[in-house]
Amino acid sequence: MSGTVAQLRRSALETRADAKQLIGDLKTLKDSQLTSIGKDIKAILQYTLSAESSTIDASAPPGTVDSAACKADLCCVWKWISYEMTAAFNGTSGRCTKLARGAVRLGFHDAAVWTNTSTSGGADGSILLTNEIDRSDNNGLSAIATQTKAWYNKYNKYGVSMADLIQMGANIATVVCPLGPRVRSFVGRKDNANAGATGLLPAETDSADKLIKLFAAKTIDAHDLVALLGAHTTSQQHFVNTTRDGDPQDSTPGIWDVQFYGETTGSPPPRVIKFRSDIALSKDSRTQPEWQQFVGGQAHWNTDYAKAYTRMSLLGVNNINDLKECTKVLPPARTSFTNQDQVLLDMWLQGQFNQLNNMVDDAIMLTGVITTPPTVSIG
Ligand code: HEM
Repeated sequence: MSGTVAQLRRSALETRADAKQLIGDLKTLKDSQLTSIGKDIKAILQYTLSAESSTIDASAPPGTVDSAACKADLCCVWKWISYEMTAAFNGTSGRCTKLARGAVRLGFHDAAVWTNTSTSGGADGSILLTNEIDRSDNNGLSAIATQTKAWYNKYNKYGVSMADLIQMGANIATVVCPLGPRVRSFVGRKDNANAGATGLLPAETDSADKLIKLFAAKTIDAHDLVALLGAHTTSQQHFVNTTRDGDPQDSTPGIWDVQFYGETTGSPPPRVIKFRSDIALSKDSRTQPEWQQFVGGQAHWNTDYAKAYTRMSLLGVNNINDLKECTKVLPPARTSFTNQDQVLLDMWLQGQFNQLNNMVDDAIMLTGVITTPPTVSIG
């Protein structure tokens, strides 16, 4: 019975696909003018096509990044970048690292400096090509900013734009986090050396109404906002409460699970800090039903996050029809995670082991504590 009710709710949500807005050049191009990538992205934005893909090219790149063979293959340089990013984003405990969490947030903060009346901005690399990164909105992003600029300095000469590097970083980080979706990844965005407008990123103190309107102006509806917010499942905040630097937003930081949704409305362990914005959105009548759908709904959330993030990653991009796809360079999705340090993690969540802050991805290395490891997986 509950399955039937859930299915009815789900299909009611999916009929809203018609209401999903198009963006960029897809707003004006006729179907007959669309490339195969243009058609796929249009379908993803309209919720009629999955944004996840398991297509993997497991072979070695055709040559070193400098080789003629590599230069002749559009995705070759991205394969080398993917190797580097995957190593940086994968923690020794198997959780994704601080850099991974930063990469997901950096992708959001570059793209979301845009509204549907903006003439520039969006996923254009400007967060790192200008002084945007120094704005207080971007507190907490300095480590990933430094690392991404280093990757840009290394790979820009092979035609890699900052805008693409940031969005590829977000997608690689997402799939490196255990249980994270493997989001289709497109390249060909143009860089912009002008800083975007201020006041377009959300604050932790904003009301649900303000946040829903802020995201609606970016063509992100309440449903997609709830799906995107689930990225806080990996989070360990630094600046919301500076006396509790590194405290997580659910009891499983570094894992792309759905604990965040249930713990925001429930009673998590004392170390978990709930953002006021998340609490507000978990209760608002426009967002609460979808919030509840994601509690215990890992596969549903992954599906919806992938579509919503595809939209986010293309805000302000006006050449969507000309983009190319390099999803095949992403590492495989990690559909289960064996937690080998639960005893230690539980003590940390109860308020002990302060020295683990920001190092949960390395927790097992600090202690060597191994218990009977519970395994979580996508249901
Ligand atoms: C209502 C909208 C949102 C608000 C108010 C918000 C606010 C915040 C704040 C205050 C932090 C902690 C920063 C710090 O103190 O270090 C944070 C972390 C984070 N946010 Fe959001 N956020 C929102 C939406 C999103 C979205 C849409 C995404 C991605 C799609 C995202 C991804 C992340 C990630 C991955 C972190 C963790 C960073 C880390 O652990 O270093 N957030 N967010």
